[in-house]
Order: sequence, then structure tokens, then C-alpha cells
Amino acid sequence: MPITQKLACDVKDLGLTAKGRTRIEWAGQWMPVLNLIRKRFVEEQPLKGIRIAACLHVTTETANLAITLRDGGADVVVCASNPLSTQDDVAACLVQDSHIPVFAIKGEDNDTYYSHIASALDHKPQITMDDGADLVTTILTKRQELVSGVIGGTEETTTGVIRLRSMAKDGVLKYPIIAVNDADTKHLFDNRYGTGQSTVDGVIRATNLLFAGLHVVVAGYGWCGHGVAMRAKGLGAQVAVTEINPTRGIEAVMDGLQVMPMAEAAQWGDVFITVTGNKSVIRGEHFQAMKDGAVVANSGHFNVELDLPALEAMSIAKRQTREFVDEYTLPDKRKIYVLGEGRLINLVAAEGHPAVVMDMSFADQALCVEYIVKHAQQLVPKVYPVPTEIDQTVARLKLESLGVTIDKLTPEQEEYLASWSEGT
Ligand SMILES: NC(=O)c1ccc[n+]([C@@H]2O[C@H](COP(=O)([O-])OP(=O)(O)OC[C@H]3O[C@@H](n4cnc5c(N)ncnc54)[C@H](O)[C@@H]3O)[C@@H](O)[C@H]2O)c1
Repeated sequence: MPITQKLACDVKDLGLTAKGRTRIEWAGQWMPVLNLIRKRFVEEQPLKGIRIAACLHVTTETANLAITLRDGGADVVVCASNPLSTQDDVAACLVQDSHIPVFAIKGEDNDTYYSHIASALDHKPQITMDDGADLVTTILTKRQELVSGVIGGTEETTTGVIRLRSMAKDGVLKYPIIAVNDADTKHLFDNRYGTGQSTVDGVIRATNLLFAGLHVVVAGYGWCGHGVAMRAKGLGAQVAVTEINPTRGIEAVMDGLQVMPMAEAAQWGDVFITVTGNKSVIRGEHFQAMKDGAVVANSGHFNVELDLPALEAMSIAKRQTREFVDEYTLPDKRKIYVLGEGRLINLVAAEGHPAVVMDMSFADQALCVEYIVKHAQQLVPKVYPVPTEIDQTVARLKLESLGVTIDKLTPEQEEYLASWSEGT
């Protein structure tokens, strides 16, 4: 019996392995920085024997990260960070070819989702790798016996970092976490260009709408919002932004976008995309004001940005009209179309971020894991930024991989920048 069949795992169908294999290879060729790290990891084995639980979107890029960690000597297990974001062929291939246990099935219900997290934690991780802080939260609330064995963790996304910072503030965080999301080489590229392109891609794949000429409302003008708005505008849409932060609001104005409250935007928009990390951003009163045929999607981490229970309650009928498109009929016969059950549409209906951008995010992840192993003794339970050295290394390697060179400071310039008396 092949070793893989003995692995404890829960994936949809191991028969999907061949499809997953070529797709993982395809992503891998666009991840040169991660590949360099992987080569070094193979030689140096910096993660030898370290148990890692990775709760991430199970995509082709994540597969390349998991393989890199394994090649660095780690004992890795993977579970999904969202019930709808798993690519089942990737999950199968990780199990069958790479002998990495995976607990993830696209479309799993909430109970299965949490049972998969529990299975990953049965692995007794020394390092947790989260996208949304579900592993940390589960350890701290339900599996406290694991805390003493954990040396640290990493967090991939804005919402996770926010959750972890409030745990640290309340004194309940019990081990150190590195906020990978906050690295420049992560959020400036992954959140902006990755979410921007893949979210629009998800909306288009789900609906086949033509963006040119549409009124697109982007709720939240953070890094993801910048990307979504920029790409929608690039496709010819008119874009309006809703915000609660005045600085971000004025930034959107000066970026040439319309800015208005959601109450107004609800009447103006044809397509709505939330990327705030906040809850109930589009509520009953907003659905009530929308045009017939309005399309509503979310690309923020949790499925709480759209108040779907309110829409459900005010609708007289609901049916699925296309894959990932639910049609809600209001009493006056207007239709509202909700994509991907309000879950992050770029991972539900498209493939998530392109590998080129995940190359940097996951290079940060791999190097942060190595950093935690090396510095375990010095780290205390709090949320740490990604060390500048790692951030800069990833940027430098990415530029090199693109064949782009930049200037170096001359000694005179270095002295000038370091001095306060120059220029007087
Ligand atoms: N879909 C993906 O693949 C993906 C990738 C990265 C991040 N994310 C998630 O997307 C969300 C946004 O991430 P980000 O990095 O852009 O965060 P961010 O903090 O940079 O931006 C969020 C913005 O939303 C605004 N906001 C908050 N509440 C609002 C409200 N009620 N109405 C309008 N605006 C509001 C904030 O002022 C802020 O400007 C998070 O949940 C993050 O975890 C998703």
C-alpha cells in the first residue's frame, strides 16, 4: 500500500491528484523567491522535526509553501482557512504526492470546517500558521493543553492580525505571533494587486458581467479596496468608494473616485464589493434601496460583511441561478444577486491570488517560520512585525527574479541621510 493511503487526512477525492500536480507545478514556476528559499531549506534543514499546522486557503500557491516547509525538515499538516476556498485537486495532490496530511474539502459545512481545524491541532503543532487566526483562537479557547508546546505562529491576513492584537491587548495571547500581513512585501502587493485582480476575476467568472460602464461600489478603501477599485476602473467601470476613515476617504477622492455613504451608494451601484474586514457593511436598508439586478459580493476575510440573514428575511424567494450566484427576490419582484454566499469571492469563484504575488507573501511566511525557530527563546507572547531584514530580503530577491536592478546609496548619500546637520 502506498504510504499516502495510510495518512490521516480528509480530502474530497485522491483521484484528482494528477490535475492538482500540474496546477501546483504551474504555480511553482511563478514563485522564484519561494523556490530559492526551498533550495536553501533542502540543504540547511532549518525546520528539522518542527511540527507545523497551517490553516490556509488550500490553493496551488499554498501547496508550494507547504512543500517548502516540508523540504526544510518540518512535519506539516494543512487545513482550510475557509469552507469554500479549498481546491480539491490541490488537497489530493498534497496528500498523495507530497505525503502532507490535508483536512479540507471545498463546500464543507461549518462543523466539518471546525473538525478539520481540530484534526490539524491533533498534530500538536509547535508552530501555527494562520489566515484569520482560527488555529490560535481554537487553541486558546478549546485546546489550552497545546499552548505549552507552541513556540510561535504567523498570521497571513489583516483580519487575523486585528483579532490577535486584541487578544494581546486583553492579555489572552499565550505565544508570540509574527504579523506576516503587515510586511510591506505582503500587504502592498498581495492585498492590493492580488485581491484587486482576483476579486474582479471572481465576480466576472461567477457572473460573466461586462465591467465597462458598470457602477461598481467598493466598500473599504484599504489595501484590498485600492486594488479592487483600481482594477474595476481599469476595466471601464465607474467606481464609488464607501469608507469610515476620513484619510482613506480623501485618498479615494484624490484617486479620482466617487466617495459616498453606503445609503447613497446602494441606489447608485450595479455591483457591490465589500473589503472592509468589518461586519454588516451592507445591511437590510441598503438591500432595500438597491436597483433590480444588483450584484453583491464580499472579498473581506469573514462572511459577515453582508447581512445575508436580513436579505433572507426580506425576500420572498431564493434560488441558485448560476454556480456561486444566489438570486433573492424582494416582495416588489426586484432581484438581488449574491455571489459565493458572501464568502471571499476571489477564492470561491476564482483561484485566489496569482502565484507571482503569493511568491512574496509565502516567502515571508517561510522566512518568518525559520526566524521563530531560531529566536524561540527571545520571543514573548505578543504580535511582532516581520523583521525588516526579512521584508527587504524578499523584496530584493523578487526584484532580482524579475531582472530588475535598482541603485545603491553612495557613501556620501549614506552620510547625508544619517546626518542631521547636513543642509544647514
Ligand atoms: N480576499 C482575499 O484574498 C483577501 C486578501 C487579503 C486580505 N483580505 C481581507 O480583506 C479585508 C480588508 O483587508 P485590507 O488589508 O484592505 O484592510 P485595511 O485595514 O487596509 O482596509 C479596510 C478598510 O475598510 C474600512 N472600513 C471599515 N469599516 C468600514 C465600513 N463599515 N464601511 C466602509 N469602510 C469600512 C477601513 O477604514 C479601512 O480603510 C480583511 O478582512 C482582510 O483580512 C482578503
